[in-house]
Amino acid sequence: MTEDRTRLHGPEFAADPHAVYQRLRQAGPTAPVEIAPDVPATLVLGYAEALQVLRDPANFPKDPRAWQGGVPQNCPVLPRMSYRPNCTFLDGPAHTRLRGAVTDALARIDTRELRTHLEETADALIDRFASDGKADLVEQYARVLPLLMVTRICGAPPVISEKIVSGALALFDGVDGGRGIDTAVAELVASKRSDPGPDVVSWLLAHQAGLTDDEAVHQVVLLCSAGSEPLQNLIANTLRLLLIDERFAGDLSGGSLPVADALDEVLWSDPPIANRGTVFPPREVQVGGNPVPADQPLLISFAGANTDPAVSAGGRVGNRAHVAFGAGRHACPTPAQRIARMTGTVAVERVLDRLPDLETAVPADALEWKSGPFHRAPASLPVLFPPPPKQIQPWLGPPAPLARRLPGPREETGRWAALSRWLRGG
Ligand code: HEM
Repeated sequence: MTEDRTRLHGPEFAADPHAVYQRLRQAGPTAPVEIAPDVPATLVLGYAEALQVLRDPANFPKDPRAWQGGVPQNCPVLPRMSYRPNCTFLDGPAHTRLRGAVTDALARIDTRELRTHLEETADALIDRFASDGKADLVEQYARVLPLLMVTRICGAPPVISEKIVSGALALFDGVDGGRGIDTAVAELVASKRSDPGPDVVSWLLAHQAGLTDDEAVHQVVLLCSAGSEPLQNLIANTLRLLLIDERFAGDLSGGSLPVADALDEVLWSDPPIANRGTVFPPREVQVGGNPVPADQPLLISFAGANTDPAVSAGGRVGNRAHVAFGAGRHACPTPAQRIARMTGTVAVERVLDRLPDLETAVPADALEWKSGPFHRAPASLPVLFPPPPKQIQPWLGPPAPLARRLPGPREETGRWAALSRWLRGG
């Protein structure tokens, strides 16, 4: 704690953020916090107050530029909070135009085809560790699958897909400030401009909003991060819940609990983006009776708002009134939410189907969590399982549709070769 500011960074917060939210809530629906060393901010913990902020872009705009100039360049949260001309940092007509193009492009995705691709990709990833009897389901699975989903919907050929995946992982790890992913996405946009296909990047470029290549690059980079990092957390948190939480663990093998309900529980109790929805009021403003300073970040605690006792008393199964996907004009676009739920469901179902006798390799309280204010998810999820028996191939080979669904050494071409090279660190 710095003076009366509570730290949303460091091991203490990572160990038990809900205890922190509960304590802060005693003093009201907003709280002074620190999101990185010497970087003050205000956190909104009340559900009603979160909606008030998210639905009032005039008083709570998204543009961080008046703030970011005064923040040291090496500040760890700066790469995620610095201005980029994408829809998350814009308001008014500029936001409406770009968000419209992104939403329309996402709405054109053939979700049936995507589901098949997700199942194949999930199986391919599981194949790579299934015979080991152990795995880290974050590093070897949850961290990778959503990125491969995004490169698929963007129509990236394997070589560019690999560059996007490694660029995005470097960005998430705070390694290169996002330079790698920018270059890879620019290459993809240029190739789709000259040779369009049935994919989100081509649809974005063809949209009536008339995006320039540069605008398209910024929106696609946004899709790569907004479309994958929260999903990584959702998958990891749901697998953890099913493995560890006593309320759910008993249902794992019996399968009586639909995976969709477990996803909803996570979206309520440990939303993948814990604290974000950042806005920068240009003048002092009141939220929940407390003054919020001008030109300082105001973060919505999606985790805090979801667990606000004023709203969280009722049953959660089938109840989607949580704010895990945000609210107001910047809420996660509806087609993106659909893709997110589908990817999360397929990812979790494939693990449960393929590795039914899964158990954690470490006690629940020994799990390490991601640090920092934004994301709530285990940093790793080590598991043990009996290796499934090797698949016996009929000597004439499986019928054609099944053959397409059996990734593995036989399919070391194209995407699988790329995935495999990348997984081998090549
Ligand atoms: C579990 C998965 C996901 C969660 C929890 C999530 C959550 C959110 C939240 C809370 C916001 C609002 C942030 C703000 O107010 O600043 C948001 C915005 C956004 N999300 Fe998602 N998201 C998920 C998956 C996805 C996916 C799969 C895509 C695309 C493929 C996507 C694309 C976007 C975009 C483009 C925005 C910006 C919208 C705007 O500013 O107008 N999200 N998401």
